[in-house]
Amino acid sequence: MERATTLISPQEIQAQLDHCQAVAQRNAQLPQPPLAFVDTYGCQQNEADSERIRGYLARMGYGFTQDEEQAQVIVINTCAIREHAEQRVLGNVGALVHVKRRHPEQIICLCGCMAQEPRVAEKIRQSYRHVDLVFGPHALWKFPEMLHTLLLHRGRIFQTADEAGSIAEGIPVVRQDKVKAWVSIMYGCNNFCSYCIVPYVRGRERSRKPEDILSEVRQLAAEGYKDITLLGQNVNSYGKDLDSPCDFADLLEQVNAIPGDFLIRFMTSHPKDATQKLFETMARCEKVAPVLHLPFQAGNDRVLAAMNRRHTREQYLEKIRALKALIPDVVLTSDVIVGFPGETTAEFEDTLKVLEEVRFDALFTFIFSPRPGTPAARMDDPMPREEKLANFNRLTALQDQISEEKHRAYIGKTVRCLIDGTGGDPDYPLTARTPGNRLVRVAGPDSAVGSFAQVKITGANKWSLFGELA
Ligand code: SAH
Ligand code: SF4
Ligand code: F3S
Repeated sequence: MERATTLISPQEIQAQLDHCQAVAQRNAQLPQPPLAFVDTYGCQQNEADSERIRGYLARMGYGFTQDEEQAQVIVINTCAIREHAEQRVLGNVGALVHVKRRHPEQIICLCGCMAQEPRVAEKIRQSYRHVDLVFGPHALWKFPEMLHTLLLHRGRIFQTADEAGSIAEGIPVVRQDKVKAWVSIMYGCNNFCSYCIVPYVRGRERSRKPEDILSEVRQLAAEGYKDITLLGQNVNSYGKDLDSPCDFADLLEQVNAIPGDFLIRFMTSHPKDATQKLFETMARCEKVAPVLHLPFQAGNDRVLAAMNRRHTREQYLEKIRALKALIPDVVLTSDVIVGFPGETTAEFEDTLKVLEEVRFDALFTFIFSPRPGTPAARMDDPMPREEKLANFNRLTALQDQISEEKHRAYIGKTVRCLIDGTGGDPDYPLTARTPGNRLVRVAGPDSAVGSFAQVKITGANKWSLFGELA
């Protein structure tokens, strides 16, 4: 399983930028700048990848649209985490056949985690012949070359070879937001939780160099970004593959030392690698938001072992207690899977007990979805779907109650929030985030977007808080 990370050289990235230049020259001859549509599914890592795809497209002279009829290039950046996610993508890609019939010159690209699955790539090759370019996360850095080749020669390109993965610095980005930014600190995953497709499609864990991360954050801070999220599938194992020792807590400390008024968030953390040192660093570093997303997946030790999570329920709870001792008002969120193969309803009830003990602020809940190629997909799964659904409903009902109680406790408090956008609610036109990342709907003027403000919390429900500028 140990295969080496490929470092993409500056010359190789320069060659890609040269392809951008060549495409930009072609595009400059068109009566008006051509448009591209980048559609993103899945997690923040995919959002970050789409920002790099947009960065390349912008260098190639493309503007952006959300309308597939207007787009010369369509890029669908896909997620493979659950069957439902894949089916949505395939449905939408299938529907593009009609769009392409009206615009035969259009180039349709499918990339991301689904593209890295041989089963999906083959299906696209056979049955979705209107898709011109298919590339997995490993080939993203070569996107300009692939698109340029298609513009010159048409035909179809599939770049979906499996590999350990690479690190490419210097890919341009067009960020979607002016207030919040994503910074990938590492790629891939080595954990092979038995239900999960990510290690198969994203390759092995590999860390960017601290100096590259720090210079990116420094630039974001200088540009006025207020909320910076460090991304990785398991940020707690950051640095294990670096030559010079720097673990995730060390990195946080260094990011925290960058001057500027901004918050630092990170995700995702794996409980087995979440250390006391990390918790102490979080408590000490004033820019690090008092929030931890720490997925526990299941509350029963037999199920956890079958999931290959490599921690017990008690080890998990112990870490939560240690963190709460250091940061009493820390906001805690988690991911849970219901209906893992062989999980009985009695075992599922251990998950409910974890909710009662920890009292998470919010929970992301999923019904197990078998991913072809993973060990869990081959396990016996006797529980009928209705029973899984009933358990799922019990889980969400309990969490809704806890979330609402936790949200109610904010009423009357004044909290320093980041006003991060505008929402749909006419009475509360602004959206804001508490330091712990809880959503607040705020009454106030649009001009407040992008700034920190004291917000008096006046109301709450299970999804969000309500408030006014204090
Ligand atoms: N790297 C992150 C999570 C990535 S996927 C971590 O380890 O925490 C996000 C969540 O999707 C997982 O935490 C898990 O709860 C859920 N998930 C992953 N594979 C799944 C599957 N096959 N079926 C249902 N949920 C799944
Ligand atoms: Fe998937 Fe587990 Fe890796 Fe998270 S840690 S990406 S759940 S294999
Ligand atoms: Fe989905 Fe890939 Fe993220 S499978 S959750 S987009 S890493």
